[in-house]
Amino acid sequence: MKVLAFAASNSRKSINKDLIRYASTLLPDSDVEIIDINDYEMPLYSSDLEEAHGIPEAASRFLDKIAAADALVISYAEHNGNYTVAYKNLFDWASRKNQEVYQSKPIIMLSTSPGAGGAQSVLSLAVESAHFFAGKVMASLSIPEFYKNFDRDEGVLTNPELVAKLEETLSPLLQA
Ligand SMILES: Cc1cc2nc3c(=O)[nH]c(=O)nc-3n(C[C@H](O)[C@H](O)[C@H](O)COP(=O)(O)O)c2cc1C
Repeated sequence: MKVLAFAASNSRKSINKDLIRYASTLLPDSDVEIIDINDYEMPLYSSDLEEAHGIPEAASRFLDKIAAADALVISYAEHNGNYTVAYKNLFDWASRKNQEVYQSKPIIMLSTSPGAGGAQSVLSLAVESAHFFAGKVMASLSIPEFYKNFDRDEGVLTNPELVAKLEETLSPLLQA
């Protein structure tokens, strides 16, 4: 199974990217490609820009990556209860090309943050709105208190209960 995985963050030190990397190690039988949304940077969406210049090619490249995958694993960073501007911008441009951004792919949705909330707000937003964009959410999990529960040097989740929950969350991809 070909899995496309990414953090919905443009931080070079993204904790969600750490989580994505760790999650990919729990899918040993899958061909997991981790992409960086910085490679799909576009100007801030504006209808004026779209009318003048069309949709940047990066939107099509992103949609093509999704099209080529059998499933997606996405970890959402939370900024003020919402998507990061970087991901929202990528998503908005992509949706102008194809509103079915997630293209009927099964998706595992994750999130993490340093706080006790674990970016649950943005995760709920992503889960609840996915069907508008042809996303089939199989399971979701937020990891709270990232720095308490994750060893960044080793790149591993250290809390055994959370490891078990993450394995359970990813299990639809193991069975597929
Ligand atoms: C502008 C801004 C707003 C933030 N808002 C939230 C928030 O609403 N909830 C939360 O849990 N963390 C919030 N944070 C902290 C982020 O969770 C933290 O920076 C985290 O590292 C972001 O994920 P990333 O490292 O994958 O980019 C915020 C950070 C910034 C810079």
